[in-house]
Amino acid sequence: MLSYRHAFHAGNFADVLKHSVLTLVLEYMTRKEKGFLYVDSHSGAGMYQLTDEYAQKTGEYKDGIAKLINSDAENNDIPEPLTEYIELIKRLNLGAELNIYPGSPGIARQFMRRQDTSHLFELHPTDIEHLTDFCQRWRKVFVKQSDGYQGVLSLLPPPSRRGLVLIDPPYELKEDYSKAVKTIIKGYKKFATGTYILWYPVVKRALVDQMQNQFQASEVKNLLQVEFCLSNDTDEYGMTGTGLFIINPPWQLAEQLSEILPYLKTKLGDQASNYCVNQLIAE
Ligand SMILES: C[S@@+](CC[C@H](N)C(=O)[O-])C[C@H]1O[C@@H](n2cnc3c(N)ncnc32)[C@H](O)[C@@H]1O
Repeated sequence: MLSYRHAFHAGNFADVLKHSVLTLVLEYMTRKEKGFLYVDSHSGAGMYQLTDEYAQKTGEYKDGIAKLINSDAENNDIPEPLTEYIELIKRLNLGAELNIYPGSPGIARQFMRRQDTSHLFELHPTDIEHLTDFCQRWRKVFVKQSDGYQGVLSLLPPPSRRGLVLIDPPYELKEDYSKAVKTIIKGYKKFATGTYILWYPVVKRALVDQMQNQFQASEVKNLLQVEFCLSNDTDEYGMTGTGLFIINPPWQLAEQLSEILPYLKTKLGDQASNYCVNQLIAE
């Protein structure tokens, strides 16, 4: 039974990290003329109204994207690699107050060209409706209400031999941790030159360690890991941090992240917050 709704969490600190990286990777993919495949295994609704009851109930965006957009006018120290993401959010809000926040499909749509193809998977009956509506006037997008893990594997390798796969499960089920990694390992066997982004929450450190171990025991090469934690690991309930595994990242991504992360710590975190960028597996 699916209960997770991203509408409660849209624009929170984890989205800021995930979507700023997604923006950088998509921008990099579009530097080459040749088309590419974009696959989003867990797409959510596509676009979120921050004024609705869900976002207002948790107010998570207020400690995430709102702190970057609202502090923007007061300073001009935004690191260059973060500017495109911030500009994108402002553009969607037509330069006015922050009311709308894009999900990963909303970000991807800003980059996809005639020659690129998108496949979006989502299971939730309400979110698939929102997603389908959101994609109405987007050409070369295929939206499916089916399992995203299987969906990813069915599409690899892409005929263009250029592809980006985002895997962003809700982790409602503990098995998501190993299933997500296994899916990428299988995908990599079919398409080793693709770029893969896997999002994870830091809720229990042992689960993150388990994912790292799974990757390290696999054939996967060139894996960059980035993490941003608001506070230290704890045994208590709740997400203290967020991270991404990125396979075959753009060559300058690690450097860009080392500019972005100190800024995120200053704007979204406090003294206890910490971050790291780590080449977990060499090229
Ligand atoms: C974390 S949210 C996705 C957020 C979105 N990627 C973004 O960045 O805006 C996870 C989504 O996955 C959906 N979901 C859960 N299990 C799934 C599965 N096996 N296949 C496809 N979607 C699934 C949930 O309904 C939820 O909307």
